[in-house]
Amino acid sequence: MDTILKRRSVRKWLNQPVEEEKAILEELSNSSPYAKCVAHAPVAVVVVYRTDGLRFPGCVQIDSAIATENILLAITDLGLGGVWLGIAPEEERMEKVEKILHLENKHAFAIIPFGCSDITLDPNDKYDEERITWYK
Ligand SMILES: Cc1cc2nc3c(=O)[nH]c(=O)nc-3n(C[C@H](O)[C@H](O)[C@H](O)COP(=O)(O)O)c2cc1C
Repeated sequence: MDTILKRRSVRKWLNQPVEEEKAILEELSNSSPYAKCVAHAPVAVVVVYRTDGLRFPGCVQIDSAIATENILLAITDLGLGGVWLGIAPEEERMEKVEKILHLENKHAFAIIPFGCSDITLDPNDKYDEERITWYK
């Protein structure tokens, strides 16, 4: 529960010497108008999904969203900061990422840039009792 409350979107990181990946990160930062921060991230995870051989193919983006949130919680738990950058279901963004990463038979779902950060944000508490319906 602590990790869930603590998790916040972080889009700025401390300098890290991970130069090899820089070229790909720069390209990924142009895959969506809201992904510019990737260019300055030390590292990023790209969540991808396959569609062949799945028992419930209709759930594939729901499953990917769960995986993405779990990765963000793990990043938070490690004391690092990251952010979910939406790629799917926007086809233009998906195609760009798939081309950059040469993905075959896989689809790009989200980019998660992350790293060390000294940013501390208050919990983003959106709980509103009035929006809950209790059935007894
Ligand atoms: C499906 C999804 C897509 C998102 N896409 C982007 C994005 O493209 N760029 C970005 O900067 N943040 C993106 N975010 C992060 C949201 O802006 C952020 O979660 C929201 O502002 C709430 O802030 P918090 O995560 O700090 O609680 C996305 C979040 C979700 C759940």
